[in-house]
Amino acid sequence: MKNYPCIQSKLPGHNATQYLEKEKKFVSPSSTKSYPLVVKSAKGMAVTDVDDNVFLDFTAGVAVCNTGHNHDQIVASISSQASTLIHMSGADFYNPLQIQLAEKLSAICPGSFTKRVFFGNSGAESIEAAFKLARYHTKRSIVIAFYNAFHGRTMGALSLTASKLNQRKHFLPLIPEVIHIPYAYCYRCHYGLTPDKCNIACVTWIREELFKTKVPPEDVAAIFVEIIQGEGGYIVPPKEFHRALYQLTRDFNILYIADEVQSGMGRTGRMFASEHFDIIPDIITVAKGIASGLPISATVASEKIMNWLPGSHASTFGGNPISCQAALATIKLLEDGLIDNASKQGAYMINELKKLERAYPIIGDVRGLGLMLAAEIVKDKETKEYALEERDCIIQKAFSKGLLLLGCGRSAIRFCPPLILTKNDADIALSIFEECLRETIQIKL
Ligand SMILES: Cc1ncc(COP(=O)(O)O)c(C=O)c1O
Repeated sequence: MKNYPCIQSKLPGHNATQYLEKEKKFVSPSSTKSYPLVVKSAKGMAVTDVDDNVFLDFTAGVAVCNTGHNHDQIVASISSQASTLIHMSGADFYNPLQIQLAEKLSAICPGSFTKRVFFGNSGAESIEAAFKLARYHTKRSIVIAFYNAFHGRTMGALSLTASKLNQRKHFLPLIPEVIHIPYAYCYRCHYGLTPDKCNIACVTWIREELFKTKVPPEDVAAIFVEIIQGEGGYIVPPKEFHRALYQLTRDFNILYIADEVQSGMGRTGRMFASEHFDIIPDIITVAKGIASGLPISATVASEKIMNWLPGSHASTFGGNPISCQAALATIKLLEDGLIDNASKQGAYMINELKKLERAYPIIGDVRGLGLMLAAEIVKDKETKEYALEERDCIIQKAFSKGLLLLGCGRSAIRFCPPLILTKNDADIALSIFEECLRETIQIKL
């Protein structure tokens, strides 16, 4: 018998309120928090707050805890490694676990050739490494990225990010020679076309307009692309988009860099989302779900591309032994069934969400792959006007009923639970979500 969700105090509760007051005083207010959840512990799909309220987690700590919270095998691997070796920097010394993990990533990343891996500590660091490597390898300066993209918040990664104004405001100027172009967001096509008739106009435009008027293709080092846009709205482009974009990069010797920080490590029902699109990226960036919550990221490229000289790039903490051990244990769990489960439960979830889309006037679009799913909330299905307040209202209501959800894009709600999800957990979440939809419509914002 599951003991979640179980809300037994007003939210935030007494203990949470005390922490929130101190947080206000001592912690940087620069991050966005969706609701006042102060976490004490977590196990599997359940997250317990400091007042012993238990929530059903459909965020996986922002697409990180793919094996569920505190999986026994992950805890065991971390504990045993902590008693053996915690740190001896991979920047200056050799580390067997880094080598082992690099060999594993070489095997599982798309492409049947040997790859090399640079280890960092976060998604943004994996992007910084890819950005530097692209310029280093090609000796070219221009980089192309997409509107709605989120690649991180450090200066290099932020230069590629075009997701929300607040993330860039007062930080300009960023790295020059980054060109943003529209993504294949077919629900709101930039060109006013539909996927059946568009002939992938968004890629044709790069070839026929951008490369003939403003941007010399021989000066372009790389195109950075999220295979499925994450923070920008869980936007799944048509398969032909990635195929055409990939072909464009082949035609002009441009590196195709797949940011799989959110879409990777089994979340979409394949180890990497690139596999759904039959793409073999030149560089892949991975973080979030790779080590079940331990900080580590990987930038993966062929030996030919990752041929920079010693001293070009390094990190003191990158690929520390405990994170590497957790990553090896995570990959094993993913391969032993969790990826298949993401695919199975994802198919069930999207089917159920599509039923809600048909039944509720404020769901404009349901999309996703595996357990990377979203529902876009609109004021009106015809006009597709963004329904920001309604979206936030649904998320707050879900929190008050014990379901953890997060937004993405301008008015979408994402569903990215741990990949251990069962049908029973999916049904609980869907029923709470529907209750919140119903109540939100009644409030008539
Ligand atoms: C696709 C993508 N790239 C990069 C990042 C940045 O990762 P981090 O927050 O670990 O720096 C994120 C974070 O949400 C992401 O979703």
